[in-house]
Amino acid sequence: MKERVSPILEITEIADRMSKAPGGGKALLFENVEGSSIPVLINAFGSKRRMAMALGTDDLETIAADIEKTIHLKPPVSLADKIAMIPELLRFTRFPPKMVSPRNAPCQEVVLTGADVDICKLPILKCWPDDGGRFITMPCVFTKSPDGVRNVGMYRMQEFNRNSTGMHWHIHKDGASNYHEHARRGAEKMEVAVAIGCDPATVFAATAPMPHGVDELLLAGFIREAPVALVKCKTVDLEVPATAEIVLEGYVNVKERRVEGPFGDHTGYYSPADEYPVFHITAMTRRKDPIYLATIVGKPPMEDCYMGKATERLFLPLLRMVNPEIVDYSLPWEGVFHNCVIVSMRKRYPMQAQRLMSALWGAGQMSFAKMILTVDEGVDVHDYKAVAKTLLNNLSIPGSLIHAQGVLDALDHSAPRPLSGSKLGIDATIPIAGEEAAPPRQAPPKEAFIAEFSRLGAMGEVSSFSIPFTEVTNPLLIVSIRKKGAGDAHRIARTIAGEDKEGAARVILVLDGDVCASEYSTALWKFFNNTDPARDIVHHEGRLLIDATRKLPEEGHGRPWPEEIEMSPEVKKKIDGLWAALGLQA
Ligand SMILES: Cc1cc2nc3c(=O)[nH]c(=O)nc-3n(C[C@H](O)[C@H](O)[C@H](O)COP(=O)(O)O)c2cc1C
Repeated sequence: MKERVSPILEITEIADRMSKAPGGGKALLFENVEGSSIPVLINAFGSKRRMAMALGTDDLETIAADIEKTIHLKPPVSLADKIAMIPELLRFTRFPPKMVSPRNAPCQEVVLTGADVDICKLPILKCWPDDGGRFITMPCVFTKSPDGVRNVGMYRMQEFNRNSTGMHWHIHKDGASNYHEHARRGAEKMEVAVAIGCDPATVFAATAPMPHGVDELLLAGFIREAPVALVKCKTVDLEVPATAEIVLEGYVNVKERRVEGPFGDHTGYYSPADEYPVFHITAMTRRKDPIYLATIVGKPPMEDCYMGKATERLFLPLLRMVNPEIVDYSLPWEGVFHNCVIVSMRKRYPMQAQRLMSALWGAGQMSFAKMILTVDEGVDVHDYKAVAKTLLNNLSIPGSLIHAQGVLDALDHSAPRPLSGSKLGIDATIPIAGEEAAPPRQAPPKEAFIAEFSRLGAMGEVSSFSIPFTEVTNPLLIVSIRKKGAGDAHRIARTIAGEDKEGAARVILVLDGDVCASEYSTALWKFFNNTDPARDIVHHEGRLLIDATRKLPEEGHGRPWPEEIEMSPEVKKKIDGLWAALGLQA
């Protein structure tokens, strides 16, 4: 695109409109960016097709099947079998990264060190109006443990000045683990290298939840069927992808922290300002004519949703390896990946669903999952309507609910405290011998809904309501209320349940009044983000009452509730005016 655009909010507004187009819209290359001579590429991974292309396939299931085949080799019987297995067994490690000389490293065509380093010349985006500054949003961050084991992760980096940024690795991530391990062993600093704009398999691998200690570049090599070419950095003892567009080399001091953020995050809310390490840049190397790779995150769907879906598909065989009862799983966008996992399973023995939940809550980054729903193998976990109907038909209140405590994603804002809190498992599989079955229930008659609707219509506090399915045994009522004070949501839900003993609703989900109760995707997104299971999901006279409203301090929420991300009206207006000239169809 040749139109001049600003990296301050304007690229976000254009990319956001694209991401929200059916299927994810187009990848965008902005060639004329205010304040920088470097073009910006965004939404490169933002569709099912482009994500598959990025990993060199037409269909992500092919790579998943390949992984499945490699990890499920049949035991060899004869010598010939053993010999035949060798190539398969070596496939994960057949393409380890290989070193190349600086002559063959486009990322070092230009080398700037010391006072010549100036990241302010890069077209770094300010993504959302209330962001604390400009952020590098798609960096591949290279670190090593004190024992020399490499890690690559993607962590946003706030621009502080011409040669320093924030380093926003969450405490649970491997980059943070390396940092803490260096500190524990008495080092004063840890070297870090950041590659921006690597080959797509490497960018993807940086986001993938690889087990601790396993080099992400082995995954990239496996996907590419070719090694990732690495070059030695100029000022630190690390290696980076030789074909990267831009590389930042430097270090973090183990004792230095600085406030970074807030930042409009992939939950659709701002993550609050907090203290994180500072990355000091000793060198910037780059191609002669680099392209700056960026992304924006925000209310789903966005580019990262397609990356998350690829992770979901590629990691299914690995999850199945330790939990063979898993048939399939899905992480719906509305759950922003860490809030909801739907898993279908083949159940053979009592409490197997509970065992599976515990296993998932102990498995790498899956342990962040706030809610896990299990269904039987016949249910298509990607058909959310079918999943919802199964849940509402099989739900036994409170028998199906499993409450737990554990670690939560650093971005969860519903728990009273950061980083840990309550979780909920819902077992919607059909009970088998040895499991307690709830007494059978009938779907309520039509008249019950009519009576329900007229009662709700007369309630002044209710701004909208909806019952998505009627022919289920536990109908769900979604109700938006004008919340005025602490406890309003559960109070109103109890009133509805109390006045309605024979009525239709068995599950009552309460939302804030600004949400339209019949916009199901938004309602689910609010439910997953805003609900702390232990505090907000209660059962009352055989009903399930869920408070998904914004929480107040008087409701036991001791930390600030974040704001939802919204673009400013001025920027929206400016892009409206530019839209025709951009030649995009969103
Ligand atoms: C666009 C994008 C931005 C991300 N930003 C962060 C971030 O700022 N901090 C973080 O801890 N994880 C972030 N993640 C998630 C991590 O990249 C992901 O959890 C990865 O597996 C971490 O790798 P590690 O376990 O090797 O540290 C981001 C992911 C994507 C796709």
